Amino acid sequence: MNRFYNPVSIYFGNDSLGECTADLKERFSHIRRVLILTRGGGVEATESLAPILSLFAGKEGRFLEAAFYNPNIKDIYNLLQQVDSFPYELIVAIGGGSVMDSAKALTALQHMEISTPADIREVIMGEKYAEKSSFTPWIGLPTTSGTGSEVTSWATVWDEELGCKYSVADRRLFAKAAIILPELTLTMPLRLSVATGLDALCHATEAYWSVQSNPFSRAFALQAIERIRAWLPRLKREPSDLARREQLSLGSVLAGLAFSNTKTTACHSISYPLTLLYGIDHGIAASLTLSSVLRHNYSKIVEPEKLLRAFGAEDADGVDRFLRTVYEMYDLPGNLGAYGVTKESIPMIVSHAYTKGRMDNNPVPIKAEELDLMLASLL
Ligand SMILES: [Fe+2]
Repeated sequence: MNRFYNPVSIYFGNDSLGECTADLKERFSHIRRVLILTRGGGVEATESLAPILSLFAGKEGRFLEAAFYNPNIKDIYNLLQQVDSFPYELIVAIGGGSVMDSAKALTALQHMEISTPADIREVIMGEKYAEKSSFTPWIGLPTTSGTGSEVTSWATVWDEELGCKYSVADRRLFAKAAIILPELTLTMPLRLSVATGLDALCHATEAYWSVQSNPFSRAFALQAIERIRAWLPRLKREPSDLARREQLSLGSVLAGLAFSNTKTTACHSISYPLTLLYGIDHGIAASLTLSSVLRHNYSKIVEPEKLLRAFGAEDADGVDRFLRTVYEMYDLPGNLGAYGVTKESIPMIVSHAYTKGRMDNNPVPIKAEELDLMLASLL
């Protein structure tokens, strides 16, 4: 597949703010009501956001907090309830992946018949949102460097009751603009910085070998991996160094662009039950199987030597060593046992690890017994 599509206008760094505000002013002058979705904690008061927010000063605005991680059906229902009487025409999402995914969910679910959280499940599972004639536009300002949600067209919504996760996916969910201001990531705690960096690393690596991989996504992926591999370990010494944050933000957006056209594969699919059942941070959970899946996929990877070179490695063992160095450096356990996984619980994980659109996007199928062995080797 040699097609690449991504309609998001990307503005990177404070230097882009002049052009960005001029563009947005022109594009959104007709908008009357703006919903500003944040994680809370006063991020909207950050100085560099002032030029963006001032664009909407004369409009009717509403601030809404999405103060949760991994949005689930009830979280989204609560948000919808809070803005029920406010017919927003644009969402400005300032936050990490959870905030941006919530913005996408609000975009997709606005004006749908939803009276209970169960209705959300039905609308998402039946993809009824796709029948809408138009989607509310949204703009993303990431405060983390990993999710890539600002340049992808889907959102993850979790269903704790049924123990699974859904993807709300539609081309109209692409943001109208992604404004990446790396200084917004300066206050991100180190553990979250590393977890989101590892997430981006997996997005890029999985995009590289995905069934839907193409020359464009592979080019973005290699650039992303090189940057994250070089700068993630260097963050530790000076987490408040803007230059380091810029490199990781850039790595994250490049990874986002890479997987915006390919989606993720086995590592992400396996990570969902690890997060749902054991609370392992998303990016860490995805990274735990990265080198094992690399070995499994190797024969079907296009130009695998380029992938290894981006990691500064000669083989899958080298990629594994890199990941273990990062885990050790940031005091993160690199084995499943430390997170509470036992040999007895592996069949349960395996039974929840086959997410449609992710596991079947892996270039070499992984049989349940193979996954069982893979997870056992990581205990
Ligand atoms: Fe991810």
